[in-house]
Amino acid sequence: MHRPRVFATRRLPRRVREELERAFELAVHDSEWPPSREELLARVRGRDGLITMLTDRVDEELLDAAGPRLRVVANFAVGFDNVDVAACTRRGVLVSNTPDVLTRATAELTMAILLALVRRVAEGDRLIRRRERWIWAPDMMLGTGLDGKTLGLVGYGRIGRAVGELAYPFGMEVIWTSRTGGLPLEELLRRADVVSLHLPLSEETHHLIDARALSLLKPTAFLVNTSRGPIVDEAALARALAEGAIAGAALDVFEREPEVTEELLALENVVLVPHLGSATLETREAMGMLCVEALRAVLLEGRAPPNALNPETLGARRG
Ligand code: GLV
Ligand code: GLV
Repeated sequence: MHRPRVFATRRLPRRVREELERAFELAVHDSEWPPSREELLARVRGRDGLITMLTDRVDEELLDAAGPRLRVVANFAVGFDNVDVAACTRRGVLVSNTPDVLTRATAELTMAILLALVRRVAEGDRLIRRRERWIWAPDMMLGTGLDGKTLGLVGYGRIGRAVGELAYPFGMEVIWTSRTGGLPLEELLRRADVVSLHLPLSEETHHLIDARALSLLKPTAFLVNTSRGPIVDEAALARALAEGAIAGAALDVFEREPEVTEELLALENVVLVPHLGSATLETREAMGMLCVEALRAVLLEGRAPPNALNPETLGARRG
């Protein structure tokens, strides 16, 4: 029997690849680097299903290049700002993402870079590697404790809530804002000692944290971003940090990823990590298995998977 043809745009965990090979005729761009746009457009041609990454733009051009056989795009991420879901829906292409399985990993990474920032972990590591002279002293490299501080969560979905739960045993008071409730954003920005971003990127959230928003923060406040880079105006953030308008920032994501605003690189009170939110072996395997499940559901069983973003497409296609 003809097996559906699936293309994955990046190297996948072995277990995920084996699972895919059992059910599909699989082609993989087997690299940790993305294919060029030309290569991507050439390789999606004639596929029934795709596994895409947050660095792949899935738009009208790509859907045209794939052609009419395409029925499902499984995005290997919880965020799907790289996918034009409306365009997929118009063509009856089901889109899925990878919620839940990365919530805990992303919340842990948020705490990891927050702690690294307030306790100057990365800065201390750099100091030792420079072979600089140092000795314990009462006032050497003092940081800031979290106990009794206020954590302001911007976005209060699965990941935001999980960060709140992890912060609680550190003695933090948690306040939040979201599209549907909580405090007004401005009040949260004025009150929080740590502001952490946990919302999807969209036209509404692009540069939500701009120069004006940053000016509302206390000079002692820290900003953490493990969501999407363009939610923060990175040039404005670099200025605020350089001027001492805020105390520090911990960033997992960047406005022009993988580029990082040059001025940030020179600042000690900035922790920079390369988009590692979901980067544990367990989580990446689980994300891959959710993609496999979505492809199986649509291509082999003709049903929408639970993590479908536009489940209505299946009904539309059938009739
Ligand atoms: C990673 O950033 C994701 O959205 O899964
Ligand atoms: C949304 O991206 C969430 O899982 O919080």
